[in-house]
Amino acid sequence: MLLHHNPASPFVRMVRVLAHETGQADDIEESVATILPIERHAATSDANPLGRIPTLVTDDGEAIFDSRVICAYLANRAGNTEIHPSTNFRVMTLFALAQGLCDSAVNLRYETGLRPEALQWDQWINRQRERIGIVLDDLNANWQDDLSAVHVGSIGVAAALGYLDFRYPDLGWRDGRDGLAAFYESFSQRPSMQATVPG
Ligand code: BEZ
Repeated sequence: MLLHHNPASPFVRMVRVLAHETGQADDIEESVATILPIERHAATSDANPLGRIPTLVTDDGEAIFDSRVICAYLANRAGNTEIHPSTNFRVMTLFALAQGLCDSAVNLRYETGLRPEALQWDQWINRQRERIGIVLDDLNANWQDDLSAVHVGSIGVAAALGYLDFRYPDLGWRDGRDGLAAFYESFSQRPSMQATVPG
């Protein structure tokens, strides 16, 4: 299998962590794509008309995307329903929450790191920051039990928190969120996380 990816992306990290956790990392070759939201990336676009990462091309040449579908594919390939319990709607909702947190964090990065300053939209930036804060509070208050197992929900949250540390080291997301900080401290020690540190 070939994974079109960029190691900075939290969506890619979810996929790579799940691949490690299910013993499939060695089955995946990786092709690094530097994706800009305003430019077509040829190799990725040849595999996926959306031109987005992560895109996984199977050994049969079939392209699978986005990160949610790749996680489902890899879990199914490994015969592991615990890591992707598709009828456990609590876990799948936690996965969706993590995906949304990553959406806001990456959107914020594009707006503040790539968009020319004169074109930046303060209200939109503020709304992304607000959403990030509200989701972090919710994760800290309401999801601790669910985060204690290894599945797409906890993997997604860990990937999102790792991305916040990577792109927003001064955000202080741990402040007042001891439970969430403890979860990340422990989860980030897993070999799957150590092998996929963003960079
Ligand atoms: C980043 O550099 O922050 C990034 C790169 C690819 C996808 C998402 C984020």
